[in-house]
Amino acid sequence: MAELETKKRVFSGIQPSGTFTLGNYVGAVRNWAPLQKEFDCIYSVVNMHAITVRQQPAALRRQTYEAAAMLLAAGINPKQSIVFVQSHVPQHTQLSWVLACNTMFGELSRMTQFKDKSQKHTENVNAGLFTYPVLMAADILLYGAHGVPVGEDQKQHVELARNIAQRFNNAYSDTFIVPEPYIQKIGGRIMSLQNPAAKMSKSDENINGFISMQDDADTIVRKFKRAVTDSEARVYRSKEKAGVSNLMDIYAAMTGKTDAEIEAEFEGKGYGDFKLAVAQSVIDVFAPLQQEHARILADKAELERILEDGAQRAQHLANKMLAKVYKKVGFV
Ligand code: TYM
Repeated sequence: MAELETKKRVFSGIQPSGTFTLGNYVGAVRNWAPLQKEFDCIYSVVNMHAITVRQQPAALRRQTYEAAAMLLAAGINPKQSIVFVQSHVPQHTQLSWVLACNTMFGELSRMTQFKDKSQKHTENVNAGLFTYPVLMAADILLYGAHGVPVGEDQKQHVELARNIAQRFNNAYSDTFIVPEPYIQKIGGRIMSLQNPAAKMSKSDENINGFISMQDDADTIVRKFKRAVTDSEARVYRSKEKAGVSNLMDIYAAMTGKTDAEIEAEFEGKGYGDFKLAVAQSVIDVFAPLQQEHARILADKAELERILEDGAQRAQHLANKMLAKVYKKVGFV
């Protein structure tokens, strides 16, 4: 226990708004278990963030359990780390209010995710979508996290969390740790297989654009075969070859191979061979994860017990920080 408390802390979250994609896995989830060696880790299924876009209640419920089970399948040890569901820890929304009063309207207006999502869901540009990054800052700052392992697309939100922390510390004396984003050099931004200019996303209307972590082997092969590349039929990395470069990122993440090794491996071969090899590398990683996922989901009582235990441990830490913040701002 003493050792645990001296370790630096890491926090990250993932939305249960659908099945995880290969992008979620490569950019974030695959990095979370290894961090347990060095850090005191806290990982959350952020269901409160998910409702900024309209969700079907039954699907959200199911996907929340599926998401938690996938984190465990990916090697997060709930005895060592804290795994919990965001709505089980009300301190997140309590801190979020205080932080909202220390966040500027202009800052939130500049968030690219808000701009994208409000364009995509014009019928539902709700206030939660706008204040979403404040809740995310609360998630991180509540636990004094030093590091936040995320994909490239969340960098701007973590930077906002840094600004909010600094502003609060300046106004009320040192309270929050100023967190840093941890972003992978390779795979921090996996692109759509159908449009290499757009991020791979679980909400993509074209299901061929993303690989779901629950796709079976045949589906994975089919989607990679259809992946958009170019007409040169040579495997190497280049700005002009966004599709091929994206496949190289995926292959590198799955196999640990370098660009030079990948280029040599496919020298003189066409894209057909390359795409099949990439597909197979993903299948090799996903198949055992899917088996473990199914095993964990089959014992719902045990999964609920793990999440309840996680919520209790998270609340214990969250209460301490919230009490400190309430005192500093002058709440009696
Ligand atoms: P979310 O649920 O959209 O995605 C979860 C994680 O996956 C990463 N990611 C990707 N990485 C590489 N390539 C992609 N195509 C790709 N798509 C998604 C995301 O960057 C993220 O790390 N706001 C967050 C969830 C959140 C959070 C937090 C994260 C809420 N509170 C506190 C960290 C700390 C989100 O919507 O992630």
